[in-house]
Amino acid sequence: MSQHLDAEWALAPFLENGLLTKVLSRQSSGKEATVYCCEAGPALGAGRLVAAKIYRSPERRAFKQHVDYASGRYVRGRTARKALKTRNEFGRQMLFEKWVAFEYQALGRLHRAGIPVPEPLAFSGCNMLMEFLGDDWTSAPQLRSVKMPAQGAQAILNEVLEWVEGMLSINLIHGDLSGYNILLWQQQPYFIDVPQALDPRVHPGARDVLLRDLNRICEWAGACGVSVDACAIGTDLWERWWQGEL
Ligand SMILES: Nc1ncnc2c1ncn2[C@@H]1O[C@H](COP(=O)(O)OP(=O)(O)OP(=O)(O)O)[C@@H](O)[C@H]1O
Ligand SMILES: [Mg+2]
Repeated sequence: MSQHLDAEWALAPFLENGLLTKVLSRQSSGKEATVYCCEAGPALGAGRLVAAKIYRSPERRAFKQHVDYASGRYVRGRTARKALKTRNEFGRQMLFEKWVAFEYQALGRLHRAGIPVPEPLAFSGCNMLMEFLGDDWTSAPQLRSVKMPAQGAQAILNEVLEWVEGMLSINLIHGDLSGYNILLWQQQPYFIDVPQALDPRVHPGARDVLLRDLNRICEWAGACGVSVDACAIGTDLWERWWQGEL
């Protein structure tokens, strides 16, 4: 009998549509979601590996970021806006569905802009399929668990800063960037976990969020012996974005 019955139940629409054939292993069980490595079906390229992200339902999560999430995003319909404000059951469910859909859309925008993220492949309800970063033997490690000499870390940091700038140039800030949400695969850093990404044109705390993201990344680089001033980098980046120079 399958070891992953819960996951197969949640992923049934993908299994029935030939997008997946099998759930292979659980990769991680985080605050917001559980991620599985699965075997793709014919509709996605038989035999290929894909990652399935199954989000926790609203009752099983705290939605700590709901304030940040809601601010700066327009919600259609008066009833919906009211439910969101009072955070009743309908409001929480709505917030949840928007949160999940937003991550899928944001990954698509980033992927199309050439920023290294797992390619989003399919979306249904509270579950998403995306490119699996890894192979048959191993999965991409989180950057935080990778220690390397300063020279290598500097090269990775330069790439990460380039992609942070790339995101800002399409008016997106990751919002939870750290060594946990960057995976390193074949020497390439990939950004993951983007449901809280925000638009600096409308989000009131965007500059601080950008500086916090940069600080966390520079902390990782600092632990590898790279000396870097996150505040100076962030201030310069923000200024260039503000002036329309990115
Ligand atoms: N596309 C992928 N390919 C391979 N592994 C992945 C992929 N996406 C996520 N993972 C693994 O699953 C973990 C959790 O993913 P993610 O950060 O998106 O979920 P989360 O629930 O928000 O987790 P957390 O609360 O721990 O941040 C990642 O750290 C990584 O180890
Ligand atoms: Mg994460």
